[in-house]
Amino acid sequence: MRQNQGKQLVGKSVKLVPYAAAHVPKYHKWMQDPEILKATASEPLSLEAKHEMQRKWVTDEDKCTFIVLDQDLITADGAPDHLEAMVGDTNLFLRESEDGAVAELEVMIAEVGSRRKGLASQAVVMMMQWALQHLGLHKFEVKIGDANAASLALFKRLGFTVVGHSDVFEETCLALEIKDAHFGMQNWEKMHLQLHDTRDADRRLQSDRT
Ligand SMILES: CC(C)(COP(=O)(O)OP(=O)(O)OC[C@H]1O[C@@H](n2cnc3c(N)ncnc32)[C@H](O)[C@@H]1OP(=O)(O)O)[C@@H](O)C(=O)NCCC(=O)NCCS
Repeated sequence: MRQNQGKQLVGKSVKLVPYAAAHVPKYHKWMQDPEILKATASEPLSLEAKHEMQRKWVTDEDKCTFIVLDQDLITADGAPDHLEAMVGDTNLFLRESEDGAVAELEVMIAEVGSRRKGLASQAVVMMMQWALQHLGLHKFEVKIGDANAASLALFKRLGFTVVGHSDVFEETCLALEIKDAHFGMQNWEKMHLQLHDTRDADRRLQSDRT
């Protein structure tokens, strides 16, 4: 999606940056791991196919991808792409429903050493906050395999509720509608996510550029 190009969102423990060509080899390596393929319901693809997808996602109007950087791992000599701190990704797919636009979310923290630090929760909240402010989206959805207890717990903790189940795909659909930005922020702040306002990140980015 063009809207997130050149943006970086800065949270307390994570930084979200747009998925760029430099990230593809590490992403490709993660997506060879059978456990990750199963948890994300993905098929293994060639490195070339992954590069092709990355190029396409930059312009696709219905897909937004950020790479998750673990702030604890960022080093000065890792700039500009900070591959040393790249630990996962978060995606948003847009679709139109009878009730308006719905954003389907995904999150993955592939690096085991960066799990259980609240990074996935923070990345999802930052993605939703950005989508709310910049794309005007209020309705969010996730589809999670029945065996993925970690993800089910994560999204329920963020306030998502079960709205459906597919026996065929053995997956549960959860949804969250944010009626106003403050409702979500109050609940998330209770979880000590301490999200930085994405508008601050945008302003910081602008000042970095000038
Ligand atoms: C599931 C996943 C995204 C969690 O990432 P994470 O950064 O470790 O998650 P968080 O630290 O934000 O965890 C938030 C809450 O989720 C739940 N949770 C996370 N991992 C869990 C686990 N392994 N077992 C049980 N609950 C878990 C807990 O309630 C946790 O809160 P707590 O740590 O205070 O108990 C990560 O393990 C992962 O990417 N797994 C493989 C891919 C995948 O399943 N992707 C989801 C597809 S939608």
